[in-house]
Amino acid sequence: MGTKETVSVLGLGRMGSALANALVEEGYEVSVWNRTPKTIPNARSVATPQEAFQSDVVVTCLSTYDVQQPLLTGEIKTLVNLTSGTPDEARRTARWAEDNGVEYVDGVIMAVPQQIGTPQARILFSGNENHHVLDAFGEPVHVGEDAGLAALYDLALLGLMWSVFGGYLQAVALMGSEGIEPRTFTPMAMSWLTEMSTLLPEMGEETQTRSYETDVSALDINVSGLRLLTEANEEQGLDTTLPKALHALFERAQSNGHGNHSIASVIEEIRK
Ligand SMILES: NC(=O)c1ccc[n+]([C@@H]2O[C@H](COP(=O)([O-])OP(=O)(O)OC[C@H]3O[C@@H](n4cnc5c(N)ncnc54)[C@H](OP(=O)(O)O)[C@@H]3O)[C@@H](O)[C@H]2O)c1
Repeated sequence: MGTKETVSVLGLGRMGSALANALVEEGYEVSVWNRTPKTIPNARSVATPQEAFQSDVVVTCLSTYDVQQPLLTGEIKTLVNLTSGTPDEARRTARWAEDNGVEYVDGVIMAVPQQIGTPQARILFSGNENHHVLDAFGEPVHVGEDAGLAALYDLALLGLMWSVFGGYLQAVALMGSEGIEPRTFTPMAMSWLTEMSTLLPEMGEETQTRSYETDVSALDINVSGLRLLTEANEEQGLDTTLPKALHALFERAQSNGHGNHSIASVIEEIRK
């Protein structure tokens, strides 16, 4: 290709600034707009979103869709939406784009700003398969035609991350209540998580076939374990929100007839 497309970035927060810098680095002619005036080296700052819309591609990276949507008034050629939202928000924006003749790419960034521009930054995107400028940010992965899919993957993966991080912090607090430092406990936590993650394919299979026979570990024994975990946290004077929530969920699956089944059977409660 000859000359590169011109690109604008709307939103110069932590992530938007990293995106704008990566585009400049890749040799794009970049314009930037932010509510609070800000500059990016070698990019042109514009005073209004509408000025930014003159570029071939507009990349948005704002805090929420609620903030973003009112800004999108004016003619846009291609919108690469990297603001995080729900699948429904993404689909509504895709419909808005279609109604307004805007070419639309919906993406989510599975990385922190410091990783942008490196292969470690995975950008999941859905809808339009033409990923335009996403190569400048990291490793684009198309996850499907439905514009809501990138947001779905994003929230599923983040949900997994938040559960693991919440569990880790609870564990660190429990160990810390007896004076064991995080630096002593963390290596053991890491190898435990690595080992446990090898169980996911089998669990996934069970949830798909909805067959939960097990000769490994029945839900009954895990419900008892969660009761012990809750009690131990209580005894140590710690917050029990997380263990109690898990205990309640697992216990409901148990009382609905899954006591002798594997842990994967808990999904039957979640699907409700
Ligand atoms: N940071 C990360 O690690 C990360 C990772 C993956 C995805 N993301 C996603 O990237 C998006 C931006 O995150 P961030 O970390 O860059 O957040 P941030 O640093 O808080 O930046 C938020 C941006 O939104 C703008 N904004 C907020 N309210 C506004 C309003 N009412 N009108 C106009 N602009 C407004 C801010 O402008 P001002 O500067 O004027 O306040 C700023 O440009 C989010 O959707 C986030 O989920 C972030």
